[in-house]
Amino acid sequence: MSEQHAPLVSVRELRKHYHLNGGLLRKGVAVKAVDGVSFDIHRGETFGLVGESGCGKSTLGRAILRLFDITSGEIHFAGQEIAQASERQLKPLRKRMQAIFQDPYSSLNPGMTVQQLIAEPMQIHGYRREEQQTRTEFLLEKVGLKREHLQRFPHEFSGGQRQRISIARALSVRPEFVLCDEPLSALDVSVQAQVVNILQDLQEELGLTYLFIAHDLSMVRHISSRIGVMYLGKLVEVAPADALYQHPAHPYTRALLAAVPQPDPRIRNLEQATLRGEIPSPTAALPGCHFCSRCPHAMPVCQTQEPTMQEIAPGHFTACWLFRT
Ligand SMILES: Nc1ncnc2c1ncn2[C@@H]1O[C@H](COP(=O)(O)OP(=O)(O)OP(=O)(O)O)[C@@H](O)[C@H]1O
Ligand SMILES: [Mg+2]
Repeated sequence: MSEQHAPLVSVRELRKHYHLNGGLLRKGVAVKAVDGVSFDIHRGETFGLVGESGCGKSTLGRAILRLFDITSGEIHFAGQEIAQASERQLKPLRKRMQAIFQDPYSSLNPGMTVQQLIAEPMQIHGYRREEQQTRTEFLLEKVGLKREHLQRFPHEFSGGQRQRISIARALSVRPEFVLCDEPLSALDVSVQAQVVNILQDLQEELGLTYLFIAHDLSMVRHISSRIGVMYLGKLVEVAPADALYQHPAHPYTRALLAAVPQPDPRIRNLEQATLRGEIPSPTAALPGCHFCSRCPHAMPVCQTQEPTMQEIAPGHFTACWLFRT
């Protein structure tokens, strides 16, 4: 495959387990935050990632950026294997992958001006002064901020404006890949649409690839080309955005969709009852399907054997025994 057509990000059997100390006389337990995830993100696409709180979305996104050491598995970025890369080996790749987080207030240093915040990543990566200046002005305009904002501090802005500053800062070093970890969740609905528009315009203009983590299923449908659904550290379904909403396959996906207002009444009450059960602990050793304790369709095989991903329609994958042929 040529470099242009190969996926920008390719993840295989990725695991990130946190080892918790069990205390005196007790064996430590492992939180399996990400537990064997495989998927690709194509150049120029937005891959949406959804799932309940604690299912491992942020851990997966941060693992791809190698913000910490992973437990096992492969991560390829632009053709390079980075799962085991050292910090020194990662340095030249760092500017090619950036992140925008949910709370721009805690991710922006309150003691720095907007100008300093946008320029800092460029200083770290050795951009010349004039280049920093031109790039700052370009991005300021793109995110809809004004020149007079440059000398102000983060606390002088609204949440939406702070997220605009985070976007400009993340894009200053010309990344190809941007992890957007719930960048809209702290914003008012009216402001969410503005920030989405900025992200989409910039994606088109700069050819960016996004991994977009979201709680809001209607927003993620709107902006994603493909969507992955996570449950307890695993991907249970991956599909083109429209296919996921029109023909959700995995009982967990159907239950998630049932919880959001749907224009299509056939989807609305599909699996309303299923999400009542408790989510098993992420430290539990589950031999079969992780969802089976809450699944209305669970069969004996689901308790004992873990289903693997199977393609059920072009580009539509799910890990569920109901779809095994
Ligand atoms: N540093 C850590 N040490 C121990 N456990 C952790 C750590 N970070 C995350 N976890 C655990 O890993 C699991 C996945 O967490 P993660 O933050 O990735 O979930 P998430 O899907 O992003 O949730 P949310 O939607 O609330 O942001 C959770 O059980 C969490 O408690
Ligand atoms: Mg998270």
